[in-house]
Amino acid sequence: VRVYRGGFAHSTRDSALLVLTDCVLGVNARGRIAFCEEGHNVESLSRQWGFEMSDVVQLGPHEFFMPGMVDTHIHASQYTYSGTHLDLPLLDWLNIYTFPVESRYEDLDFAKDAYTKVVKRTLRNGTTTACYFATIHTEASLLLGDITDDFGQRALIGKVCMDRNPLVPEYKELTNECKKETDRFITELLRKKFALVKPIVTPRFAMSCSSALLSNLGKTARNNDLHIQSHISENKEEVQFVKALFPECKSYTDVYAKHGLLTSKTVMAHGCHLTDEELETFHEKGAALSHCPNSNISLISGLLNVRNVLNHKVKLGLGTDVAGGYSSSMLDAIRKAVDTSKALCIQDAQLQPLSYKEAFRLATLGGSEVLSLDDCLGNFEVEKDFDALRVNVCVPGSPIDVFPGDDLEVLLEKFLNLGDDRNIVEVYVAGKRVVPFPDSK
Ligand code: GUN
Ligand code: FE
Repeated sequence: VRVYRGGFAHSTRDSALLVLTDCVLGVNARGRIAFCEEGHNVESLSRQWGFEMSDVVQLGPHEFFMPGMVDTHIHASQYTYSGTHLDLPLLDWLNIYTFPVESRYEDLDFAKDAYTKVVKRTLRNGTTTACYFATIHTEASLLLGDITDDFGQRALIGKVCMDRNPLVPEYKELTNECKKETDRFITELLRKKFALVKPIVTPRFAMSCSSALLSNLGKTARNNDLHIQSHISENKEEVQFVKALFPECKSYTDVYAKHGLLTSKTVMAHGCHLTDEELETFHEKGAALSHCPNSNISLISGLLNVRNVLNHKVKLGLGTDVAGGYSSSMLDAIRKAVDTSKALCIQDAQLQPLSYKEAFRLATLGGSEVLSLDDCLGNFEVEKDFDALRVNVCVPGSPIDVFPGDDLEVLLEKFLNLGDDRNIVEVYVAGKRVVPFPDSK
């Protein structure tokens, strides 16, 4: 076992934030947490587990471990233009900026450069698990799988499915071709037997898929017990279009439900304009939402009422939604989730704002629940994989200043609100240190 001693912060089922100022945590050879106990037990643990006291890695006074963050919605293929193109609403943004760029991923050299950069950037930013959209191209999507595996990031990879694209008809597939390529993508990715990288069935959204394609994808997910991801009720104009395209369905949620795409392994991005009745359906089906607050503001889509989603007991996580969201950092998603909630509180004084502790939970344990991975990651419970960030608030050039009396809870709050990748000195996924990158990378 490898053993760390010092401050730890994580969420549990009962508590949004649990701070352990002196804790000893052991990681076994399989990368799982062997024990996590109070520091004063270290000597009996060393006898029990057979480690030397001199081998214990002692964290500094301004350091702590927190769980790795889970980005439940990110478009790897849009990373090339993140931080730009934020001047149009969703549907124009897709047609004018997004589809022309995504078309370029037929070129594997272009794909390799972009996908390597997004995986490295998100890992440095502390995203240990990412739920990725790629593009419609099977080969480039498989390449994204290879790259995440190579860097040791845990990932779900979606080859995007779309057989309807009226304004940019060159960026779509024929229905049958899409079905065939989706099956090939899933088979090939599973054949690689990556420990941490799996396929996810990815209809882009109802507007870009025929009913026949949606049904087929629902069947594919069911037959192979796969995750599903898409977009829902992001923008009011989109909601109106979907109503017109699927008049037999009583709501946007009903479109996905009727096509077998709303399961306990489904994660839908946005959901800003869902009704209470639709949220009830999400709860009944065990389907999850990815809250992407940067994107929702950047594309002027809407303000998700997280409190209402939580009150409906819908599984909820955070997503960066690069490049609709301009930041690839989950720390930004945490901040924007709190900001969005506070903005809604300005309009409705009855509303309880989202606390930083709740946002921390959404970015870690909440994300693991969204992806149905909460029995293997999300916090520091024994037997879970050690997916963790070693944070140091006092590195050279740190954006954080520390004052006498700042305890571990304060250091965490400052890191969440003020910190950046300079403060994330090490990143572990399944017990393996993946940041700093090895010299070969
Ligand atoms: N809806 C359908 N496709 C997309 C996309 O690429 N980004 C966002 N934000 N919404 C979408
Ligand atoms: Fe998105």
